[in-house]
Amino acid sequence: MRKHIVAGNWKMNKTFQEADDLVSGIMDEMEKTTLDSNTQVVICPPFPYLEMVSDYGDDSYFMVGAQNVSDQESGAYTGEVSAAMLESMDIDYCIVGHSERRAYYHETDEIVARKVDQLLKYGIKPIVCCGEVLEEREAGRQFDVVKRQITDGLFHLTAEQFGEVVIAYEPVWAIGTGKTATPEQAQEIHAFIRGLIVEKYGKEVADETSILYGGSCKPGNAKELFANPDVDGGLIGGASLKAEDFMGIATAF
Ligand code: 13P
Repeated sequence: MRKHIVAGNWKMNKTFQEADDLVSGIMDEMEKTTLDSNTQVVICPPFPYLEMVSDYGDDSYFMVGAQNVSDQESGAYTGEVSAAMLESMDIDYCIVGHSERRAYYHETDEIVARKVDQLLKYGIKPIVCCGEVLEEREAGRQFDVVKRQITDGLFHLTAEQFGEVVIAYEPVWAIGTGKTATPEQAQEIHAFIRGLIVEKYGKEVADETSILYGGSCKPGNAKELFANPDVDGGLIGGASLKAEDFMGIATAF
């Protein structure tokens, strides 16, 4: 059975002390609740807090992810963080191709593909984001957009490499807007994505791939979203900044 994953993307939020308080709050919530044994919680703080968050617990509580990685190996790339650096800090996951990085930092599918390669080379699981903007959805082009992102960003991988990848479908119009995709809209695209994987790598690989939903996911709507057969968890922004809300989502399975 493929893994259920609930990952918190803190984005550029929290001072060091606030971040420390948040992880401590998440740990407290974890002590109080029982997670489904197939659910993996992942916390993706800003780079400077990775070590602090990692030091909090062992993998039985949560795993730690970065929010970005360089597409280059090493060297004169001021301000960048490499996959080798993340690996040397035992980081388990890394978000790649988030719509904010695509929009504000001009991250193309080609760059996403190179970042994925770097991560896999160092044994870090990429959480690869895809999703359409509002105008694309209104024009009925969401399937074309997602297909291009998945094909150009990921389909150069071998089946074995692809087995390490997690996909996050995040419709851009639902991110931070309070406007969530309906469970039907989410299921429709998730099933479409799984179909693409079946075509490329076969049913066995597709059945093992976790496909997460992201975009205004909250404790109040997580259950109905996660009830869909092809929705295997969530990539959570705003609601991951409050321990209770985050754990409310993590326990929605
Ligand atoms: P929100 O949950 O704040 O809509 O953000 C979703 C997201 O972008 C997670 O990566």
